[in-house]
Amino acid sequence: MIQPEQQRRAYLEALGIDVWVPRDHVDPEIEVAEPAVAADGLDWTELRDTVAACTRCKLHESRTQTVFGVGNPNADWMIIGEAPGAEEDRRGEPFVGRAGKLLDEMLQAVGQGRDSVFIANILKCRPPNNRDPEPAESAECRGYLERQIELVQPKIILAVGRIAAHLLLETDTPVGRLRGTTHFLDKTPLIVTYHPAYLLRSPSQKRKSWDDLCFARRVAAEAAA
Ligand code: URA
Repeated sequence: MIQPEQQRRAYLEALGIDVWVPRDHVDPEIEVAEPAVAADGLDWTELRDTVAACTRCKLHESRTQTVFGVGNPNADWMIIGEAPGAEEDRRGEPFVGRAGKLLDEMLQAVGQGRDSVFIANILKCRPPNNRDPEPAESAECRGYLERQIELVQPKIILAVGRIAAHLLLETDTPVGRLRGTTHFLDKTPLIVTYHPAYLLRSPSQKRKSWDDLCFARRVAAEAAA
């Protein structure tokens, strides 16, 4: 049965009126979400195996395989993208399609290679038709990425594209406004740049992404000093 308070809220929401809820209010009607994925304390092998066997969201039904991440487990730079595409799903490695080739070139230009950085995605499984990750999928997968970051302990994180930047920084500020600033994920500096797939569609923006990578290189050098 709908409770009067629920009815009032639904009514106000339907009218587009913000419903004020005290900060410490706990709604007994709302189911408490399950805790985020338990990856705490796992070592690389355990984490990789856990990801490979993951069925926490519906994406496991359509994936060919999980795409864990690749590179140097002690990298100074960690690159975080959105989710595997078709080619990544087939090969089990992030950023191996056209966008990946461009990412490799961008990294090489600042003296980094696929083997010196660690590359991972927000999602470890491909969303069908390359649609955006759904909030529940990102939430289920987040613990895996958090553990990867803990294990790598990078000096700098480069968030490539809107989805990665928004989910990591918990904001919806456009990428254009997030660029050029040092953000922090816990204490790790995080720089935002455009997604290479976007740069393939808008080559005129490549100049800005070059600026972002030079900026990231400076921030990483400062963090290492
Ligand atoms: N785009 C991403 O964000 N990640 C990949 O692995 C490939 C394309």
